[in-house]
Amino acid sequence: MDLLKIDEYEQAAAERLPQMVYDYYAGGAADELTVRENRLAWQRLWLRPRCLVDVSQRDLSTTVLGQHIALPILTAPCGFNALAHPEGELAVARAATAAATIQCVSTAATYSLEEVAAAAPQGARWFQLYCYKDRGITQALVERAAAAGYRALVLTVDAPYVGRRERDIRNRFGLPPGLRWKNLEPYGLDRMDAGGDGSALVKYIESIWDASLTWDAVDWLRGISPLPVVLKGVLSAEDARRAAGHGMKALIVSNHGGRQLDGAVPTAVALREIVDAVGDELEIYVDSGLRRGSDILKALALGARAVLIGRPYLWGLAVAGEAGVARVLQLLRDELDLALALAGQTSVRKLSRELLVL
Ligand code: GLV
Repeated sequence: MDLLKIDEYEQAAAERLPQMVYDYYAGGAADELTVRENRLAWQRLWLRPRCLVDVSQRDLSTTVLGQHIALPILTAPCGFNALAHPEGELAVARAATAAATIQCVSTAATYSLEEVAAAAPQGARWFQLYCYKDRGITQALVERAAAAGYRALVLTVDAPYVGRRERDIRNRFGLPPGLRWKNLEPYGLDRMDAGGDGSALVKYIESIWDASLTWDAVDWLRGISPLPVVLKGVLSAEDARRAAGHGMKALIVSNHGGRQLDGAVPTAVALREIVDAVGDELEIYVDSGLRRGSDILKALALGARAVLIGRPYLWGLAVAGEAGVARVLQLLRDELDLALALAGQTSVRKLSRELLVL
């Protein structure tokens, strides 16, 4: 049966994946209120389509940090892609490159950042990182990402600790034999084996991430990085203004797909105040809960320059590897293209809030 929408990819992935893996990807923190509301908040925004506009020619392309992309949809940095398919991040690299968009590679990848770059050398990619207690590790990752041709660093700032993910605690989530945090192999920090008490991710992260991180770390990272730094996980106008003040060129409005603070504001709501606060100074991207082309249209109309999708490409990856990721990107692209036309719009770069009932 042809899978016609992202939710059908999720269903098909759920049938294929071990419960522990499906739960890790699908789940969120505590009561998963934010997971649920992320989706609903996009659905609750209403479009004000215009009619009798010539929409026979449309343009989905844009730029992010000066890089041309064919569609305003990047792949988000999701951990451990090889849990979904043996080719993991390599398959995502090839599919994102074929779609002429950017792959944002997670530090928690199951292939090294160099292996991912080599899988699709002509592609553009960003590297997501955390700040470790041992700053030398963070610095080494920055240098490796720059040497491997990555174009930006994405610093995740919503995770001083891991959210309370009860599915992972119950399933004793961890990596099966053979899978590792490949990027951290050179520093002896690549093992996060399943089967202990509770979530191995929680124990792993508490031992190496720096929960004392402040804006000083952002300044430090900017100082050592030859690449632009993008902050991921900003949810308030205050922090967005601080990000601008600390020289950021871009930020990602994100609640980590509802995986960190349950009850955190849905991104469809937070995006508005952040665009109002710093939309003239920074490029703003958004993730969390986008499952339809019309959701993406709404995000762009609110003022996001592009969106990131996470779970949708993991479902595609689980269903059919690289081809599955390619199909998911194509599906969202086609849905966005049609929504654009039906809304009487011709370019993703020319959308405004007039397209929304606010
Ligand atoms: C890691 O960042 C996760 O959300 O599992």
